[in-house]
Amino acid sequence: MDKRASREPPDQKKARHARTVRSYVLRAGRVTEGQKRALDELFPRYGVEPGTGLIEFSILFGNGHPVVMEIGFGNGEATWRMARAEPERNFIGVEVHPPGVGRLLLKIEEHSLENVRIACQDAVEFLGTRVADDALEGVRIYFPDPWPKKRHHKRRIIQPEFVRLLSAKIKAGGLLHLATDWAPYAEFMLEVMQSVPEFENLSPTGQYVVRPGWRPPTKYERRGERLGHKVADLVYRRTPQAGQE
Ligand SMILES: C[S@@+](CC[C@H](N)C(=O)[O-])C[C@H]1O[C@@H](n2cnc3c(N)ncnc32)[C@H](O)[C@@H]1O
Repeated sequence: MDKRASREPPDQKKARHARTVRSYVLRAGRVTEGQKRALDELFPRYGVEPGTGLIEFSILFGNGHPVVMEIGFGNGEATWRMARAEPERNFIGVEVHPPGVGRLLLKIEEHSLENVRIACQDAVEFLGTRVADDALEGVRIYFPDPWPKKRHHKRRIIQPEFVRLLSAKIKAGGLLHLATDWAPYAEFMLEVMQSVPEFENLSPTGQYVVRPGWRPPTKYERRGERLGHKVADLVYRRTPQAGQE
């Protein structure tokens, strides 16, 4: 048995465990030559270098447009399409997988997009340490890893604690948009979201909405559809806190 673990107070042990439960497994994916060039040459311009202080988004983007964060953008297909379709917004994409970051950088260059920045980091840490409260107009999380096995449910990114963190970072009136093709995860999302009263479900049925026009199709969505999965979109509004109305 790990001696450190046996001497540790239970609270500390719990905190250490919580930090090691992550919503992803970093696999050594192949980085192509083009992606490598993008990571070397374009990341210094469009990437957020690792750091500790809060980010001033108006300085990062060079304007005061509202900022939407996309978490776990994969290959970035939805990110660049949304950024191109919504030039009045700034997009910050957060993804841990370097080949995906390289692909999005290449798309930013190809489409000359000035309203996208990328953080190659765990989004939970990034939000907690680099993003000020009420700094975001919205957060979009499309097809997060479903972690289907029961013993892995704790790895799902949508958890009450994470949603409370999102509620602090999204300003009143801002939107949280989730999508999944894994029906049990959609139900799990509904349940978790119900436990955080700062978010109001915008569905007329209190459950899912018709896919909003701003969400482009993604690679994982197409994969799910090939497998016959039905896609669920969930949209929530961050309600004003007492005194903010
Ligand atoms: C199933 S893929 C979906 C990718 C993309 N949104 C799509 O629909 O094609 C989930 C992605 O989330 C990323 N991811 C998971 N947890 C993350 C975290 N805590 N921070 C940043 N990215 C994360 C993974 O690396 C992976 O690329």
